[in-house]
Amino acid sequence: NDPRLEGIASAIRVVPNFPKPGIMFKDITTLLLDPNAFKNTIDLFVERYSGKGIDAVAGVEARGFIFGPPIALAIGAKFIPLRKPRKLPGEVISEKYILEYGSDCLEMHVGAVQPGEHALVVDDLVATGGTLCAAINLLERAGAQVVECACVIELPELKGRQKLNGKPLYVLIESH
Ligand code: PRP
Ligand code: MG
Repeated sequence: NDPRLEGIASAIRVVPNFPKPGIMFKDITTLLLDPNAFKNTIDLFVERYSGKGIDAVAGVEARGFIFGPPIALAIGAKFIPLRKPRKLPGEVISEKYILEYGSDCLEMHVGAVQPGEHALVVDDLVATGGTLCAAINLLERAGAQVVECACVIELPELKGRQKLNGKPLYVLIESH
């Protein structure tokens, strides 16, 4: 167990009853305010993925845009933004996913990844796994090979790990 994990965990603020009663919201904005903890977070991912032949880091809007790009730059990979609908100007492929109430959708530009390229999916948190599943599907439909998904926080009670079509999931912190 890396000694840096404790500082990362304690820099994440828990906000009760947000966005609705009963939810204990894991707020990574306080982690971003702590340069040492933020750097350690990025470093832990970079240490895991450097030299592993990863061509692309795909980050999920919005919070995957915070953690994905510094990892991509440090390991020498390109960064692919996976965006909410109607934000990308070029030709896209889309993947719908189910939320607790209703559904949402992620889009990726056609041509962002080449068939056979190795991709890492990055987001801040995995809850039900629906978001990561949609990200995996987009990359695989484009012919990429998803090597792993990486998140700062996992809520293991929600069993999102089981929704990833067997893809490995690496997380820094489990939050019960
Ligand atoms: C949150 C979080 C993950 C997703 C996890 O994003 O940042 O992306 O939910 O949930 P899941 O595992 O149940 O799919 P959200 O859609 O709230 O939006 P944001 O990142 O734009 O704030
Ligand atoms: Mg998100």
